[in-house]
Amino acid sequence: MAIWHINGGKRLEGACFVQGSKNAVLPILAASIVCPTETDLLNVPQLSDVEASLAILRQLGCTAQQQDNDVYIDSRTITSNEIPQSMMERMRSSVLFMGALLARCGEVRMTAPGGCKLGVRPIDMHIDAMRALGASVEERGCEIICKADKLVGNRIRLPYPSVGATENAMIAACAAQGETVISGAAKEPEIEDLQEYLRKAGAYMNGAGTSAITVSGFSAEQHIGHRIMPDRIAAATLLCATAATGGDVELRGVDFRQFYRLQHFLKQSGCDIISSKRSLRLVSDGKLSAVGRVSTGPYPEFPTDMQPLLMAALLKASGRTEFIENVFDSRFAHTKELARFGADISVERRKASVWGVRSLSGSVVSATDLRGGAAMVIAALAAEGGSIIVDSGHIRRGYEFLDHRLRALGADIFMEL
Ligand code: UD1
Repeated sequence: MAIWHINGGKRLEGACFVQGSKNAVLPILAASIVCPTETDLLNVPQLSDVEASLAILRQLGCTAQQQDNDVYIDSRTITSNEIPQSMMERMRSSVLFMGALLARCGEVRMTAPGGCKLGVRPIDMHIDAMRALGASVEERGCEIICKADKLVGNRIRLPYPSVGATENAMIAACAAQGETVISGAAKEPEIEDLQEYLRKAGAYMNGAGTSAITVSGFSAEQHIGHRIMPDRIAAATLLCATAATGGDVELRGVDFRQFYRLQHFLKQSGCDIISSKRSLRLVSDGKLSAVGRVSTGPYPEFPTDMQPLLMAALLKASGRTEFIENVFDSRFAHTKELARFGADISVERRKASVWGVRSLSGSVVSATDLRGGAAMVIAALAAEGGSIIVDSGHIRRGYEFLDHRLRALGADIFMEL
């Protein structure tokens, strides 16, 4: 349990580096067992989801160690293909070990994954992808057993560009004989990072970043070194906090092209954004305007993970902004908590309408999920007076030292564990 104490109304100012990407590192940690190899990863954020993945790797018999932002994995010593329910339930990304263990061991025993409660989160596309490669998948009570004597390349058509199902299919296809083409693939930048890692591991793979990814063989490397890309959602969190507090912050080491949609809305709301190849500076006077309509969708559309963040930034923006959530069927739990700061929000199924209010006042709120928790931090920074955020552990799943980073930028914030 973490308790966040925030005294709002302070302008954020300064420059900072952005942490390594959670959504990039988690699939890469699973992929590190695809062949017997040693992996060195740099720029790995210190997060509880990373700890959970390393614990799974150790449970499987690998060496998996993190020192600050470096991770070393030796997957030559793997001894097991089973992941206990308690480990599966710690996060959604545990499901990515399905493709990885199937590729490596030809069999995997696991249960359904956990993760943020954002509505129904099935894994049917993951299972169908394994079946397309020739695996049998059996569900016995809550246990899922996948087996394949050998995996055979095939055409995998994803009915929706699921990020996780695309990654699972890419990883499993590394062990398939013949060519695999994943069509309808997700195009998120983190998928390109996974492809880069798998290529270093020996995969003949291309197409990541487009809707068709081809895997046509594998020749295992003994040692892989890889630097994890910067986290675009963590960067978006800092940008939204700066916009909301009327600040001036430069983010170093980020690729501005990955924020195209967010930049568009923040500019429309009245912020100035100056971007170069490796940095992004946002200047806001805190007097924001509503931006009309924000609809979430698969990349390159506006990311669902940024929806709570932009909403929190626009609570005081003059006029009305409508948020349409198209990716998850229940991703507005944070709206009730935001209302405790005095925000004017009404929710109707997949639409949340936000009417800008003159001011927000400090409150006691809960972090409903990972990005919902970050939205509470942004709202509390923009509110007058003190706030307390009660968090059962969501924020630490995805943010590395968020309190330190914000304090360095001038926020009055303190987190008690
Ligand atoms: C990933 C991200 C998460 C982000 C999400 C959407 C990671 C670790 N997590 O999650 O931060 O919010 O993408 O951009 O990278 N679906 C099915 N069947 C499946 C799989 C998914 O119906 O087998 C549905 C989901 O319920 C959801 C939609 O597809 O409605 C998108 O899910 P998906 O892209 O798979 O999200 P995740 O990979 O879980």
